[in-house]
Amino acid sequence: MSETTETAERTETATDQPLETTSGETEEQVREEWREYVFDGRTKLAAEDLDVYYGDDYALKKVSIEIPEESVTALIGPSGCGKSTFLRCLNRMNDRIRSAEVDGSVRIDGQEIYQESVNLVELRKRVGMVFQSPNPFPKSIRENIAYGPEKHGDLQTGLLARLLDRSDEDEREQLVERCLRDAALWDEVQDRLDDNALGLSGGQQQRLCIARCLSVDPEVILMDEPASALDPIATSKIEDLIEELAEDYTVVIVTHNMQQAARISDQTAVFLTGGELVEYGDTDQVFEDPRSERVEDYITGKFG
Ligand SMILES: Nc1ncnc2c1ncn2[C@@H]1O[C@H](COP(=O)(O)OP(=O)(O)OP(=O)(O)O)[C@@H](O)[C@H]1O
Ligand SMILES: [Mg+2]
Repeated sequence: MSETTETAERTETATDQPLETTSGETEEQVREEWREYVFDGRTKLAAEDLDVYYGDDYALKKVSIEIPEESVTALIGPSGCGKSTFLRCLNRMNDRIRSAEVDGSVRIDGQEIYQESVNLVELRKRVGMVFQSPNPFPKSIRENIAYGPEKHGDLQTGLLARLLDRSDEDEREQLVERCLRDAALWDEVQDRLDDNALGLSGGQQQRLCIARCLSVDPEVILMDEPASALDPIATSKIEDLIEELAEDYTVVIVTHNMQQAARISDQTAVFLTGGELVEYGDTDQVFEDPRSERVEDYITGKFG
């Protein structure tokens, strides 16, 4: 509390000459109206006063944001500003980091996810995640897709299922095809479903990971720099795919690539040093007419 007051005082006395912070940012107080984003449609995710600490160091400071369903939301900002931390708050992946402490609220469809009764397996089924480096299982392409539904008991295959005459093999084949088609990979792999997934190219592996994420029927898909390790052609396939996915899913994507954010997202949230959400709005507005000077400096490449 006292820290906020101190910052306010320091900023008020420093209006003549804007100070430069160590990362080259102009010192500027975050204003509520820069983050007010009124959208049509329903709110899928809502974070309120979210603070995250790793030990004594805070990574996110009072982040509040509402994310509309069936759209693409880009999270941008310089390295270390808390984008991945924020993304991990949305399906409680930070619970796996021992030193991480999360305070505040995150709701999906109005339901609080930070409460004891929440089943984390169910939550992560609803809110899937795709990481920067593709991480397929060292199994066949088919098994990569079927693994989740089989683990959750939505599909029964194998010897026991056959003996009990309850085998869902036809359903499994349909699911594998549907997910691979939805991830724009089917045409490239339909003749090699039994091959090891690690034999696919990086771009194909990443689309397989997206297909795997779709196989458990999620509502939200979180992506942390999903195309940063890919060449321009593979990147453009992933970008097209993300835009298509947003017709049915709520996609939240972290990217360092400004053109990518501008191309594929409907709204953009800018985080800056100190773990603050500084500006949030329609992507066109944020890129063409940012309200925060720091955001303008960041977008035009003056720092970060
Ligand atoms: N597991 C962890 N343990 C301790 N500190 C962490 C951990 N993960 C992140 N941090 C710290 O929290 C801050 C935010 O990190 P985060 O990874 O969320 O940033 P980011 O915006 O995703 O950065 P980048 O663009 O480089 O991926 C950084 O200062 C980072 O060092
Ligand atoms: Mg990150």
